[in-house]
This record gives sequence, C-alpha cells and structure tokens, in this order.
Amino acid sequence: MNATSSREGIVDLRSDTVTLPTEAMLERMQRAPLGDDGREGDPTVRELEARGAALTGKEAGLFVPSGTMGNLLAMLAHAERGMDVFADGGAHLFNSELGSVVTIAGLVPKSMPGRRGAMDEAALEEAIGVSSRPGLIAMETTHNGAGGAVVPLSHMARIHALGQANGIAVHLDGARLFNASVALGVPAARIAEHTDSVMVCLSKGLSAPVGSLLCGAAAFIARARGLRKLVGGTMRQSGVVAAAGLVALDTMIERLREDHAAAKRLATALTWLDPTLADPGQVQTNILRIDVAGSSHDAAAWAAGVKHQGILVQASGPAQLRLVTHRHIDNEAVARTIGAFAAVRRRPRPTDAATY
Ligand SMILES: Cc1ncc(COP(=O)(O)O)c(C=O)c1O
Repeated sequence: MNATSSREGIVDLRSDTVTLPTEAMLERMQRAPLGDDGREGDPTVRELEARGAALTGKEAGLFVPSGTMGNLLAMLAHAERGMDVFADGGAHLFNSELGSVVTIAGLVPKSMPGRRGAMDEAALEEAIGVSSRPGLIAMETTHNGAGGAVVPLSHMARIHALGQANGIAVHLDGARLFNASVALGVPAARIAEHTDSVMVCLSKGLSAPVGSLLCGAAAFIARARGLRKLVGGTMRQSGVVAAAGLVALDTMIERLREDHAAAKRLATALTWLDPTLADPGQVQTNILRIDVAGSSHDAAAWAAGVKHQGILVQASGPAQLRLVTHRHIDNEAVARTIGAFAAVRRRPRPTDAATY
C-alpha cells in the first residue's frame, strides 16, 4: 500500500495513528483462521495474545479494540472504585482518558510532578503515604506529552519497588512501548518487567489498522477478560484484525528506528531555520514538540500555514506544535515539511497578512 504522503500529496504528521496497514497485513487478514472470540475463541486472536505476552514477558495477553480500553481494563482489574491512581501530571491517562479514570473506573486521579515523563519519586512516596486508599500507580513510556521521551529503566525499577513495598500494582501505558524498546536497545520485556501490567498499541507506529494488547499475570488477564465483556469490548471474528497485529509484531518493530531518525532529521533542520524551535538532543523517538513561543507566529498560525502547503501538524497548545513521524514519512516528506516551515517563517505575522 502506498504512503499517504505520496498517494494524496499530503504529509500527515499529526500522529502515528494515521498509518495504513501494509500489504502483508492485508494478505494475512484474508487467510486468518477465525472463530468466535466471545465463545470458544478465535485462534488468530489467541496467537496474537500469546505473542504479545511473550514479547512483554508476561503470563497472558488480552486483545482489546483500543489503548484507552486497555488502560481502562487495567484500572478496573487492579483497583476498586474510590481508590487513588497516581500518575505523572502529563500522562495521557490524565490528559486524554480522564473521563474513563473518573467516571468508569471511579478512581481519584493523583497528579504527580514529573520531568520528561518520570514522576518525582519523593512526591510519589509522600502522596502514597498520605493516601487513605492507594489503588494503582501508572507510568507511560514512551511519554507522549513529554515529546516521546523514554522513561529511564532505573526510575521504573524504583517506582515498581515502591509499589511493591506498599502493595500497590504498577501499570504501564506502553502505547509506544516498542519505540522505547528500540530507543533503549533492550527487549520490550526488559522494560515491562518493572510493571505488573502493560498496554501496548498495535495501531500506532506498528501500522496495524486496529487494536491494542493488555498483558499481565494470568489471573489479572482473566479478570480483565471478564471486564472487557462488561464494557462491550468482546469482539467476535476479531482474528481478521488480530492477523494484522501479528504481522505488526513480527515485522514492524525494528523499522521504528527509521521513524526516530526522521524525527531527529526534522528537529535538526528546524533548528537551522530557527534555533528556538526545536532541540534535536531532546528527540529520543518519533515525537517532536516544537516550541513556537519565540517565533513570529503562534501555533495555530504555523499549523494553518504549513497546512496550506499540504503538511498536517497538530497545534498542541497556543505555542506548541506536535509532529509525529511514522512509516509514511519518507525523506521526501521530511524535505517538504522543512520547506513548508521555511516558507511560513518568511511570511509576515498573521495579523499583518491575509488568511492562509
Ligand atoms: C500514550 C497513549 N496512551 C494511550 C493512547 C490511547 O490509545 P487509543 O487511541 O488506541 O485509545 C494513546 C493514543 O494516542 C497514547 O498516545
């Protein structure tokens, strides 16, 4: 399947979720053995769940429609309503999934200060100490809000130890766990060993069309499986999409390093345009945060300006843009993006100019 960029003339850097399935995925989807996953089971789903569990070093896996549902089931299976959930204040769980944290899981969000995705350990210890109902600690790596930062393994080990010392489970939002694995040069299981459960997304940089996996101890996954039915997440012949997930895990993990290199190239070139825009040293994986506070345009004007040239980026704040590289961002797409930023930079302030 052709890249969206070359097919439609659009370079879509808003997210790695825009990736299309590969030819190998579409082919495997057509010949996948199927069954009813709500009854005796679907053999392709079972194979995917086993593969996910093996890769993350956990006893069992559960195929879920989305990362949000995987995180929700982890909260429901680990903690009871009214308990506290501790996470970094910039966590996706608190910024984009707060509705499910509060209204469905019924947990009380305890937002911790952090640095590049890593929670302040002393603050966490203190917060757990004063909590009357500590329920769950949640980490995230790579950290979306912190620009794809990889949380250090030593930090994760200390957080896990703190959880164990206090009898609190530790869950990892590993939507981009394999990006962290490639960036650190360690197997995903070496990262997930510092957690009791992990959610990984197949539908982001790995290019599968749909789906995530929740992995953990067998008893935990059995509980999560029952809860998945409760929230309407039991699918039927879901081997059709699980087949693409198998190809993703088999063939797409190592390729992620190309996305990391593209993000670094973008950051470096943007720095040549304007040193205040990006810091290539901070780009560890496939997410690039651009700070436009010191530039002549605000984030919305930058996004509108580059969109006019066929480049889609996300304004993630009044002075911040988010660019995410993925399989469809090739060298030509990187060059076009840099050209578009250079053209917008040369333009007068939006207040002086006609609309883009
Ligand atoms: C860090 C993180 N966690 C969870 C999710 C949720 O995944 P989904 O969109 O599949 O629900 C995302 C999605 O972008 C994410 O970036």
